[in-house]
Amino acid sequence: MSDQNPPDGKHQSGAPWRNFYGRLKGKGLRKSQEGYLEEDLESLSPGKVSWEDNPDRTPLDLKALFGEKPMWLEIGFGGGEHMVHQAAQNPDVGIIGCEPYINGVAMLLGKIRKAGVENVAIHPGDVRDMFDVLPDGSVEKAFLLYPDPWPKKRHHRRRFVTQEHLQPLAKAMKPGAIFRVATDIEDYVRQTMEEVPKAGFEWLAEGPEDWRNSWDDWISTRYEQKALREDRTPHYMTFRRLG
Ligand SMILES: C[S@@+](CC[C@H](N)C(=O)[O-])C[C@H]1O[C@@H](n2cnc3c(N)ncnc32)[C@H](O)[C@@H]1O
Repeated sequence: MSDQNPPDGKHQSGAPWRNFYGRLKGKGLRKSQEGYLEEDLESLSPGKVSWEDNPDRTPLDLKALFGEKPMWLEIGFGGGEHMVHQAAQNPDVGIIGCEPYINGVAMLLGKIRKAGVENVAIHPGDVRDMFDVLPDGSVEKAFLLYPDPWPKKRHHRRRFVTQEHLQPLAKAMKPGAIFRVATDIEDYVRQTMEEVPKAGFEWLAEGPEDWRNSWDDWISTRYEQKALREDRTPHYMTFRRLG
């Protein structure tokens, strides 16, 4: 039986079949970046996340990782500027970042070295694998910044703001925890407003213009810079996990 197209939606290992449509690798890595990947990535592991290493899906030991620190999660950190910024501003928090694009991971590692932050862990892969192993109610803040827009209607179901992603995220989040979403795509705002509340979140807006203002502790990301150069308007949405 070919493992490429499993009939029951699972790999032979038991791992569910999760299509990933983004890029895993871009153009060649610089020598220095290859060095960061070889030397630093393993020591920044949050624990056993992949199906290969953890077929029983045993939850991560967050105490061993970050002690008593609250844990935040960044989904798709891209080049990592926001993650390092938050880690440096919030030394009393531990931040786990997930990003399957290896060039982005290498960029983050360079920034971690430069900033000297120690309160971070990296899963160089799909956040859905991370959701399997996060203890329920363990995430105190989550960031989804400029997620892949998938502009074609037939691709909207690939967007992060679908129940496939939002329900496991909600389960992993602590009641009252904050979920921030930034996007420059109007239709992505529509889908976010429709889908995120269905997964058990409320939108924290005091007025209709609330989405225009970035957060006080914000640092603009690479994709936001691109959006601004191309004359698209950032939208900042803040949700709270109910419960
Ligand atoms: C448009 S980029 C934005 C990157 C960054 N947040 C920024 O604002 O510059 C979206 C990122 O999400 C990542 N991504 C897509 N699907 C993901 C998934 N299932 N788990 C983790 N990251 C994912 C992509 O690899 C990509 O780097």
